[in-house]
Amino acid sequence: MKLAGKVVLITGAGSGIGLATARRCEAEGAAVVGVDIAAGAASVQADVSDSVEVRSAIREVVEKHGRIDVLVNNAGVAVRKPVADQDEEGWDRVMRVNLGSVFLCSKYAIPHMGRGASIVNMASGVGITGIRNRAAYASSKGAIVTLTRNMALDYAARGIRVNCVCPGFTDTPLTSGLLADKEAAARLTALHPLGRLGRPEDIAAAVVFLASEEASWITGIALAVDGGFSAGHYADV
Ligand SMILES: NC(=O)c1ccc[n+]([C@@H]2O[C@H](COP(=O)([O-])OP(=O)(O)OC[C@H]3O[C@@H](n4cnc5c(N)ncnc54)[C@H](O)[C@@H]3O)[C@@H](O)[C@H]2O)c1
Repeated sequence: MKLAGKVVLITGAGSGIGLATARRCEAEGAAVVGVDIAAGAASVQADVSDSVEVRSAIREVVEKHGRIDVLVNNAGVAVRKPVADQDEEGWDRVMRVNLGSVFLCSKYAIPHMGRGASIVNMASGVGITGIRNRAAYASSKGAIVTLTRNMALDYAARGIRVNCVCPGFTDTPLTSGLLADKEAAARLTALHPLGRLGRPEDIAAAVVFLASEEASWITGIALAVDGGFSAGHYADV
């Protein structure tokens, strides 16, 4: 078992990729605490974009388990708009939930993490390449890639590794609206050279790998788990 005895905190654990990651971590022997804003979706209910709620959630985990070995900053929201159509409140919300939560959860979890601990941030393939109509979302994910690298450098001496995963389009409740449109689903699938969309379990497997001892010499990377989405343009031209 890759995470035997580890205390793993996962944000956005009530659905999609976070839920699959929580299940996989448990199967690998971890004690998992899931945090989610949705009532009843995880063991701790909290809005991870809110400093007071983050501090209280982390206090609860530490009181129960004494430490945090793995933090998976997975919670996120998506907005589909170009800059001129993006309202300012929506921009702020995406930045606060997607990027601000990585800052807040890491800030308050790191004091409870020791040598060998690990942080895995959920970025996105669209944080590496551009995509139309995702100005706020893609910017927040690009910033997570950069924040990951900075945190990796800042905490390497303390033996804490920090990496991020950049999924391609994955079939979860976040994308279900888009995927319900068969033509849009076919267009999205065509962006992935391996010929299918991601499954939450594909992403969970990468998170577990990065969190485990098998990745003990890996820090500061953005691991694309995307069926080739970020490899380049796939059209036969
Ligand atoms: N599905 C994809 O195609 C895809 C691709 C790349 C990256 N991602 C990223 O993966 C992560 C998980 O996405 P998903 O597809 O599983 O989405 P999802 O909507 O199925 O799950 C997201 C979870 O986060 C929770 N959440 C949202 N805001 C929160 C907040 N403020 N505080 C606490 N919890 C909150 C939601 O309640 C939900 O349970 C996100 O960061 C997303 O941006 C998803």
